[in-house]
Amino acid sequence: MGKRIPLRSQSWFGGTDRDGFLHRSWMKNSGLPDDAFDGRPIIGICNTFSELTPCNAHFRELAEDIKRGVIEAGGQPFEFPVFSCGETNLRPTAMLFRNLASMDVEEAIRANPIDGVVLMAGCDKTTPSLLMGAASCDLPTALISGGPMLNGRFRGRTLGSGTDVWKFSEDVRGGQMSEEEFFAAESGMHRSPGHCMTMGTASTMASMAESLGVALPGNATWPAVDAHRRRLARMTGRRIVEMVREDMKLSQILTRQAFENAIRVNGAIGGSTNAVIHLLAIAGRVGVELSLDDWDTYGRDVPCLLDLMPSGRFLMEDFCYAGGLPALMKQIEDLLHGDALTVNGKTVSENLAKAECFNHEVIRRRDNPLTPQGGIAVLRGNLAPQGAVLKPSAATEALMQHRGRAVVFETIEDYKARVDDPDLEIDADSIMVLKGAGPKGYPGMAEVGNMPLPSKLLEQGVRDMVRISDARMSGTAFGTVVLHVAPEASVGGPLALVQNGDEIELDVTGRSLHLLVDDAELERRRQIWQAPPPAMNGGYQKLYIDHVQQADTGADLDFLIGCRGAAVPRESH
Ligand code: FES
Ligand code: MG
Repeated sequence: MGKRIPLRSQSWFGGTDRDGFLHRSWMKNSGLPDDAFDGRPIIGICNTFSELTPCNAHFRELAEDIKRGVIEAGGQPFEFPVFSCGETNLRPTAMLFRNLASMDVEEAIRANPIDGVVLMAGCDKTTPSLLMGAASCDLPTALISGGPMLNGRFRGRTLGSGTDVWKFSEDVRGGQMSEEEFFAAESGMHRSPGHCMTMGTASTMASMAESLGVALPGNATWPAVDAHRRRLARMTGRRIVEMVREDMKLSQILTRQAFENAIRVNGAIGGSTNAVIHLLAIAGRVGVELSLDDWDTYGRDVPCLLDLMPSGRFLMEDFCYAGGLPALMKQIEDLLHGDALTVNGKTVSENLAKAECFNHEVIRRRDNPLTPQGGIAVLRGNLAPQGAVLKPSAATEALMQHRGRAVVFETIEDYKARVDDPDLEIDADSIMVLKGAGPKGYPGMAEVGNMPLPSKLLEQGVRDMVRISDARMSGTAFGTVVLHVAPEASVGGPLALVQNGDEIELDVTGRSLHLLVDDAELERRRQIWQAPPPAMNGGYQKLYIDHVQQADTGADLDFLIGCRGAAVPRESH
């Protein structure tokens, strides 16, 4: 046990006066004994449970395991709900609400009588929203993920969340799969509690949490329904109580070194492009200088070692049984800051000391990588002056250096209306360009960047084309897709000026993206360009549109950047 420090919860529960009575008495309506408020650490369990977020729908049960751990270690747990960002149902996109959820988390932590927090994360945006909010408070904090679903199963084969939906829908449109089979696959893809079991954004962010050191080793991969997941929850509950006693704050873990480690791990797992935006936003909250270029600098030479969908073949269950994230991190230990501190009080190297790989087909050896360069390529040029990203491990080698004519879609609705028009002038060498899908434009920067290919090209057997947009794409998606173009079209970025037939040159090795139209012509187009009207003129969406930053700095709201601490607020009565 560490040194005794005055706990902030005692400002609520420690008083002998009227206010102490008020704060304790109501809480006792659940049958708590007097000693619940004797100065023991009060632990908030921040739960993103929602039945409308199917990936987090098992969180009420998992919270009970955390509570047991807290009590075993001598703390008093209180569970509280926050906004749940579910990827599959929220429109126009869950990303629009990541920042809203982070505000909920931050304010709920600061306003309540808690000394430490366990964050319960699962579906994509829940991890960054929790970490962003918690980082702006900086109490002792540990995160536990809900865990991936079991592998999908369908007619003797495994199915990967998302990844196989994109594949199957192309197969149906290309005539290689019947609609009947397509519907049957629906019930086989998601067969247990948990989040996507491909290396989508949820598994990526669970891996980021573990490599940042804010979650216990094993967090990224134990399936949601495995007893190990419940044990991990219990150990997280025990550990947070010790962290409060040690006064070990989130900012001691979320250091520049931790972010560099996470960027490298992202390369080695073939992680989602969404991690770029989320880590930039989290770093902004905790006050660590992190830039888009750091993703290229630190990720560039990291080989992708994980043979997992969408980059490879296997799924999270296989990754788990192969040894999980510690086994993978062990393979690249020389690239990591081994002395970075993690929530269990140990360093990264200490955590990796006993890590072992049990299946080198799933977790490749360094001399046999899935792709030699696994990281995120950051592209710049006159089409993306503030940058754009591409995930080489999910792209087609032959398209990495490509020059083609633009086929422009002004909005996603425009794309949907015209993509299957037999008269659309498009061939396999064309470059599909989508506008209006960025942070302000959509709003919320939807996952629509991996535009499905035109049916007529699918029927010809085309399976990938260069696509460029200011959108994001699902971490489960794949293809030669240039994303996060900044500045976005809706604020008048050069993307807004692209017209049908313009030549565009992509050079992933040279990290460049150029619109081959001369400056005078671009200036002419800029003069007549008109900004689209905002999607909404009031409410949270207006706040979001007015304040959201571009993708290259994390798409946070400008006034949310930074840590505001967790000083005890004024008394309420
Ligand atoms: Fe929730 Fe994929 S939809 S994690
Ligand atoms: Mg997603």
